[in-house]
Amino acid sequence: MEKLIIKGGQPLHGEVCISGAKNAVVAILCAVLLVDGEVTIENIPDISDVRVLIDMIETLGAKVTRLDISTYKIDCSNLSTYVADVEKSKKMRASYYLIGALLGRMGRAHVPPPGGCNFGTRPIDQHIKGFESLGCKVDIRNGIIEADGAELRGGQVYLDVVSVGATINIMLAAALAPGNTVMENAAKEPHVVDVANFLNSMGANIRGAGTDVIKIKGVEKLHGGTYAVIPDQIEAGTYMFATAATRGDVLIKNVIPKHMEAVSAKFVEMGIEVWEGDDEIRVVANKPLNKVNVKTLPYPGFPTDLQPPMVALLATVDGTSIVTEGVWDNRYQYTAELDKMGCRITVDGRVAVIEGGRQLQGAQVKATDLRAGACMVIAALAATGVTEITELRHIDRGYERIVEKLSALGADIKRIDE
Ligand code: EPU
Repeated sequence: MEKLIIKGGQPLHGEVCISGAKNAVVAILCAVLLVDGEVTIENIPDISDVRVLIDMIETLGAKVTRLDISTYKIDCSNLSTYVADVEKSKKMRASYYLIGALLGRMGRAHVPPPGGCNFGTRPIDQHIKGFESLGCKVDIRNGIIEADGAELRGGQVYLDVVSVGATINIMLAAALAPGNTVMENAAKEPHVVDVANFLNSMGANIRGAGTDVIKIKGVEKLHGGTYAVIPDQIEAGTYMFATAATRGDVLIKNVIPKHMEAVSAKFVEMGIEVWEGDDEIRVVANKPLNKVNVKTLPYPGFPTDLQPPMVALLATVDGTSIVTEGVWDNRYQYTAELDKMGCRITVDGRVAVIEGGRQLQGAQVKATDLRAGACMVIAALAATGVTEITELRHIDRGYERIVEKLSALGADIKRIDE
């Protein structure tokens, strides 16, 4: 069994470089299926979600060549099937993007319902509603989503909830659909904009990404080209929280500071210094910190994916803080693991009350999902004594070289295989 062994108590110091954005790249690796030609994608993080997805698009007929650690050449000139692999699809949430991409390129898609982190019900009704608005027929047979896009064309879509996945998936299906699509109440996350930028740089006509109305004029074909993925907003935030929780001083490089505004604003409220450069942020936490209340919201609100790291930080701050989860029904399962480290957290539905300021103690804990794993790492770095973290497959899904990056910041962390 693999474990992270972390001896806490060292303030983090130094510089760390952020990798490409997981939630952009998993969509872009599906979007390449729409391109009748060769695409080179740079700044791809070396994480397990990327490996699974590359494997999946290869089974659909994509030819993938790794040019260096973070650059891939992908040729989708000859796709061979619209049927996605069942077992691989279940390993990750983002496999749902294969539906939009295959519909757009092949006119049909058979894709199993997605897997991914478990935080309550994760419906995809808005994706399906969007496809239907574009003239598709969608059925679920024998547990497989079967989408028939023989009559795919532009249409009007109003999303009932702000959904990152539905926004991107509808964009993928509409990019090559004849006519105009207008999507209202769209998600505005940086990775939505990145996918639109990728598609536009390959010849698509998508306007308004980053606002709540996206307009897509279907084009006949997408051509090849080169594209670099944006830096990972959530990885950057994770290092900001690790720095603050250890009362450290770290320069976080290769970030887009604008994407971090909700976090930076909370940090300032907490008495943490945040210095922004063009593509870097320095976080300095050398004074006693203030408790705060936080509510997660779709972008530009405070990101739900940084809710677990925020809870770990607030556990180190004197006083009672309240966190409200505004996106997911059940994203606090990991707090039972934090309790093992001496945290005092009461959860009632979407609200967590954190009685902070108790010294965290090393313990044996597990990563219950991806960002919960990041939360455990942050708590372990701030704790006295040794913490052992298991279920590392969750962390591996989204954090590139986390042991190396934290070690370079002075953390006492190693990965062992018992
Ligand atoms: N929702 C519906 N119907 C739908 C789709 C969503 O009711 O058809 C609801 C969800 O239940 C949720 C809310 O809408 O309450 C938002 O869900 P969204 O569709 O935005 O989430 P997602 O696309 O499945 C992505 C990220 C998540 C991140 C959320 C919210 C990817 C691959 N995943 O998920 O990231 O939490 O957006 O920002 O982009 C992570 O990286 O750890 C992660 C979980």
